Amino acid sequence: MSDRPIGIFDSGVGGLTVCKAVNELLPAENIIYFGDTARFPYGTRSVETIVRYSREISAHLISRSVKMIVIACNTSSAAALDRLRDELPVPVIGVIDAGARAACARHVAGPIGVIATRATVGSESYVRAIKKIDAGREVLQRQATLFVTITEEGLIDSEIARLAAREYIGDMHLRGVRTLILGCTHFPLLKRAILDVYPDLDLVDTGVEIAHEVRATLHKKNLENIGDPSHKGIIELYASDITDTLQRLKNMFFCKNDAKIEKLIISG
Ligand code: DGL
Repeated sequence: MSDRPIGIFDSGVGGLTVCKAVNELLPAENIIYFGDTARFPYGTRSVETIVRYSREISAHLISRSVKMIVIACNTSSAAALDRLRDELPVPVIGVIDAGARAACARHVAGPIGVIATRATVGSESYVRAIKKIDAGREVLQRQATLFVTITEEGLIDSEIARLAAREYIGDMHLRGVRTLILGCTHFPLLKRAILDVYPDLDLVDTGVEIAHEVRATLHKKNLENIGDPSHKGIIELYASDITDTLQRLKNMFFCKNDAKIEKLIISG
């Protein structure tokens, strides 16, 4: 058992969906969340840069004595998970394996679809993770960068969101995709718009899936915070830049949870 915090990081505030899912499933756990808002977005950057940013953030979280690190960012998970696992003294988990496992477990016939940032799609990480579980499974991917902007602009229930869904998902849907992995922290907020257009899709929310993996990992390593069952974990939120829109986005991704976000600059 351990009352040390869980470290969760993302390129921005989108990973708060993961923070929320972990907090709901494991309310006693203390959490330190870092969103790299000053260097957002990661999805259009090179692997080398994403790995450097991810290492810097992880080093900081380790200095805060976290007991495990959750890479909430799909783009960082795709670029840096293997390296961080080799380098860090605590368990490290990323959203991609959790998303791939959940999609394969759905037992829906046909190809699995993935929408994500350019960097995540380019890394082919979801394709590899799915094929490791089900070698014969066809995987169709599409970068859906505009979905990030649509979400950040608060246009989650708009005609633009539905148009973008047609553009990004239409071809996959025609080719038989019925299980679709939302491979970016922002995309779970677009579930409604996507289902308005394609109601027969089974959407895989990687944030929810990874929360179950956090619980399983803590249990396996005997790191759960077991004590007084009424104890509520402390959530510390940090971001590398605090802007006017940050609070609005925080409320969107974290449902008005009243924890404050503090500014924290991390560099190499
Ligand atoms: N957190 C990123 C992801 O899940 C959001 C987009 C970005 O940073 O480009 O891929």
